[in-house]
Amino acid sequence: MRSFSARLIAWHEHAGRRDLPWQNTRDAYRIWISEIMLQQTQVATVTPYYQRFLGALPDVQSLAAASIDTVLQLWSGLGYYRRAHLLHRAAQEVVGKHGGTFPRDAATLETLPGVGRSTAAAIAAFAYGERGAILDGNVKRVLARHQGVEGYSGDPAVERALWARADDLLPREEIEPYTQALMDLGAMVCLRSTPDCARCPIADDCVARRTNRIDALPAPRPRKPLPQREVAVLLIGRGDEILLERRPPTGIWAGLWSLPEVPCDADVAAYCRDRFGADVAAGAALVPIEHAFTHFRLRLTPLPCTVERWPTRMEDSGRGAWVWLPLPEATGAALPAPIKKLLRALATTLVTA
Ligand code: ADE
Repeated sequence: MRSFSARLIAWHEHAGRRDLPWQNTRDAYRIWISEIMLQQTQVATVTPYYQRFLGALPDVQSLAAASIDTVLQLWSGLGYYRRAHLLHRAAQEVVGKHGGTFPRDAATLETLPGVGRSTAAAIAAFAYGERGAILDGNVKRVLARHQGVEGYSGDPAVERALWARADDLLPREEIEPYTQALMDLGAMVCLRSTPDCARCPIADDCVARRTNRIDALPAPRPRKPLPQREVAVLLIGRGDEILLERRPPTGIWAGLWSLPEVPCDADVAAYCRDRFGADVAAGAALVPIEHAFTHFRLRLTPLPCTVERWPTRMEDSGRGAWVWLPLPEATGAALPAPIKKLLRALATTLVTA
């Protein structure tokens, strides 16, 4: 089998894009503008903007001398306006710090505002034929699939692995068509959700394809850990009965019966005196239980309580606000699942009056 780069270069000759407005030039300024516009925007959208921009500001001197308003006006509709601000600043740097000549290598290009490692390598490849790896979003997808690189590419270790593969695969020569081929393959064939493997020149040794993991690679961004809320739930027993409280009509478990719940740092004695008219002492907390909702995790810390004095109105159900239930009945009632689980597990250890 021919090398990865040889197959890509051969494919590009008949299937790649060779007549885009920023191609067939060695003018680093024009190439730079195109690469910045193409960072987050597709070719079809960029093309008219690119032509208008170059018509108005044909070289780095005119861009540096233009007002930011002019630049933003030319950018208006392309989105990600930070790119336009950085472009303007970079042009002023080229004029101010580099004597008006565009940097001639990737390392110096990368010092310009808005030019990262991949963009610098792309400009240097297209403008000067400099050999260097690119790794934009599309290329990450191509390499993650072809090389079978696992893990989310935003993770620094995974990104390092991808850069290493990108470096290893570089051809000795023909960096320009190779770089364009890699970009084109990512934009036209190795699509995120509908890759056209039948038309792919590197499908034969693509790890994702061979292992049937095209959908799984590249790995998506891991979900952010859910925020965690913590509350204490009170275990107040009387004989074989447990005190349950009806939950408020809104919020989680709305209207369900549950254990009395207090904030973790609440004064349990004051809460119980206020709410039930009982003198209660909280004992040592038990091992917390965790429950995941769609938008947060709830950590419930059970607090066994000793009741030191019962008021008579404890017998009152508080107009449906609380109830004493025998444990076997409570564990069978319509309680929130983690509360039910907790009661089942603790049925034998409840503190009773
Ligand atoms: N995306 C980023 N750079 C590109 C280029 N030079 N041609 C096509 N798509 C691109």
